[in-house]
Amino acid sequence: MKNSLAFSHQLIEEVIAPGDTVLDGTAGNGHDTLFLAQLVGSRGCVYAFDLQEKAITHTKMLLEAHGAASQVHLFQRSHAELGQVIAPDSPIKGALFNLGYLPGGDKTIITKKESTLTAIRAVLTRLARGGRCVIVLYWGHPGGKEEKEAVLAFAAALPQAHYQAAVYQFINQRHTPPLLLCIEKIAKK
Ligand SMILES: C[S@@+](CC[C@H](N)C(=O)[O-])C[C@H]1O[C@@H](n2cnc3c(N)ncnc32)[C@H](O)[C@@H]1O
Repeated sequence: MKNSLAFSHQLIEEVIAPGDTVLDGTAGNGHDTLFLAQLVGSRGCVYAFDLQEKAITHTKMLLEAHGAASQVHLFQRSHAELGQVIAPDSPIKGALFNLGYLPGGDKTIITKKESTLTAIRAVLTRLARGGRCVIVLYWGHPGGKEEKEAVLAFAAALPQAHYQAAVYQFINQRHTPPLLLCIEKIAKK
């Protein structure tokens, strides 16, 4: 079985084509941003956000090393502000969030439920029909459980005529394995 991270990539890959516009809400060390940049190719566009300078620097270096920097717009600001950067009528085909803290970085800089929910709402407003917002929730750290519960409650309340929301989670692993949430905007019938 795929782990949550690998499955998050599969869920995004299934709906993205070269030339699409996508978003990485938590660039971190840049692995997801690079994955998205390679999926959309040089004609596509990736908006990537992270609060930390270190994360933006790592991401930029990784993208440049793979010749995939030209299609990526990096922002050192909160994903809660994505609405100030991406026009409301600019359709996003896919969005990835990897919630928690930067591996190998400052464990006190974590995603928080209020800004996470603001960002997810802004993504859903811009999500193209058939597009997916895929969220990997690491929740073993302080505040992680509250964030997980708030995000799941938000997703569970989405109107089923417009969205499908599903969770993927290992239920027999020790500690707090990450949980994967996928929200898809239903394509026009
Ligand atoms: C689990 S890491 C992301 C890992 C990343 N996707 C990768 O491939 O390496 C979570 C990241 O979220 C960032 N973060 C925390 N709060 C944020 C916010 N409000 N807006 C944007 N990024 C935030 C952290 O700085 C951290 O780098």
